[in-house]
Amino acid sequence: MCGIIGYTGKEQAAPKLICGLKRLEYRGYDSAGIATFHRDDFSVFKRKGRVSELKGGETLQGNCGIGHTRWATHGAPSERNAHPHAFGRFVLVHNGIIENYLPLRKECEGRGEVFASETDSEVIAHLLEYYDSGDVLAALKKTAARLTGSFALAVMCRDEPNVLYAARRKSPLIVGRGKDGSYIASDVPAIAECEELYTLRDGEFAVLDGDNIRFYGEEGEIKKETMKLVSKADVPEKGEYAHFMLKEMHEIPAAIANSLLDFEENSCFSAINIVLCQTEYIEIVACGTAYHSGIAAKHAIEALARVPVEVTVASEYRYRDPIVPKGTLVLAVSQSGETADTLAAAELAKSKGATVIAVTNVPDSSITQLAHFVLFTRAGREVAVAATKSFNAQLALLYSLAVALARAKGKRADPELLRPLPALSEQVLAETEQMKEVAPLLLDSRSVYFIGRGADYCAALEGSLKLKEISYLPSEGYPAGELKHGTLALVDEGTPVVAVLTQHALAEKTMNAVSEVSARGGKVLLVTNLPEYCSHRSVFRSFLLPPCEELFSPILSVIPLQALAYYTSLARGNDPDKPRNLAKSVTVE
Ligand code: F6R
Repeated sequence: MCGIIGYTGKEQAAPKLICGLKRLEYRGYDSAGIATFHRDDFSVFKRKGRVSELKGGETLQGNCGIGHTRWATHGAPSERNAHPHAFGRFVLVHNGIIENYLPLRKECEGRGEVFASETDSEVIAHLLEYYDSGDVLAALKKTAARLTGSFALAVMCRDEPNVLYAARRKSPLIVGRGKDGSYIASDVPAIAECEELYTLRDGEFAVLDGDNIRFYGEEGEIKKETMKLVSKADVPEKGEYAHFMLKEMHEIPAAIANSLLDFEENSCFSAINIVLCQTEYIEIVACGTAYHSGIAAKHAIEALARVPVEVTVASEYRYRDPIVPKGTLVLAVSQSGETADTLAAAELAKSKGATVIAVTNVPDSSITQLAHFVLFTRAGREVAVAATKSFNAQLALLYSLAVALARAKGKRADPELLRPLPALSEQVLAETEQMKEVAPLLLDSRSVYFIGRGADYCAALEGSLKLKEISYLPSEGYPAGELKHGTLALVDEGTPVVAVLTQHALAEKTMNAVSEVSARGGKVLLVTNLPEYCSHRSVFRSFLLPPCEELFSPILSVIPLQALAYYTSLARGNDPDKPRNLAKSVTVE
């Protein structure tokens, strides 16, 4: 969370910093700021709110600068807590969390130093000032050694006007060389025009001075390989769509098609196949939407391969001293590949002897460094904070893996069953405008419930998460059979309940729950591939899905639910791409 950027070179820094921050805004957007160096001093411009509030900062003079877009952790979103933070000769931007900032702050205050913000980050500037005796890199190393937690840092020192210093631990940081100078950024799109890009690894430092970039590890200067060249096309544009979320939903068919595993062509398949043959037990660790794709995968894997699967929220797994029996395969699922909890869970599982396969959408992300094997979803960059196409892509890949595992275990599983999914998703998408008419029904509700059984429960959970995160309506996903054990008490006249029903064998059971809701005045929207239930008297409205292999149906049934969330968010006057309090990449605990 938080996006950072830095530039040093021939051009004015401020416009470049602001342009880069706009491309990093998905990482946080509650305040923003830049600092440049001009005529022996720093100029700092910060504002509460989005990067667009920095308009006035474009005129800041100077060829070297740093910038930040914030997702608040310590200290309220305010101008005072916005980055950059300055102390003494130093000014810096920080992404991450300094867990021991309170004792460090006390130590600095004990020396009589005064703090200007409530953030954990400001303490870094104080430590730099304390440790600097003319060698900024040495001061940065000493400072880093005092910090517990995570950081990606871009630092300027008044004594070296054109030099940027960078450091990384557990928060992503890219360094780039362009035609006009050198850059630091949290993510590639911010500096996609650079001709050479380098990924900074944990424990590494960089010093940028105009065109000259040097990298350092603990032991001294190091050489680094460049990442593959990034084309301009990697800078996402909304095109004809009103929002990234809508655009990304329309990219679902391609995301599914590209993410279905073609094991014949996958160069690491033979190695993975050996792992699959030896797998006795699978633990899926993930957060949020990725956790929901894990639940869908559990259904498919257990049904097809008869291998037991547990799905655990990564933040719970990492603190529970998990049991890792021989033959454990851990699937760490993360769109961004940077989610701190998922990384920590995968690291723990690996240290206990599990084989770790990362399922991620981002090449070169942190999770690719620590996993034994990596399987890439090929959804393309996802910008909207609410995940859509990446979820469908995860399902496509995990379903393919279920088929591969079943075959490795000598079970019958036909990969051909997966082939129709892209075209079917296209059909579903074509109907999603219906949700425009459903959205007004939710507008004034106190709460919305999503129910489903078996594989449908996963779609219910994901539909509910989408709705709450971008419409801000309280919403819950429930196993349909569990409703009567408590939550039904909350259903009264007009309460919207979305029921997902695609599992033929469970249809009557789910319809019982639908009838119980309707009998209490609840208004049921039924999302189903079974047309016979659309006209059921307990159903208020329905959305008919095309028939598909039942086990894989969440990949389709979630699409109208994503659309429902989108249109409800719009109807409530929200920005669906940038929900309040959230950010795309959760690199803090
Ligand atoms: C919800 C959403 C989040 C993410 C979660 C994990 O729409 O996007 O719940 O799914 O923060 O992120 P990744 O997959 O990047 O690890």
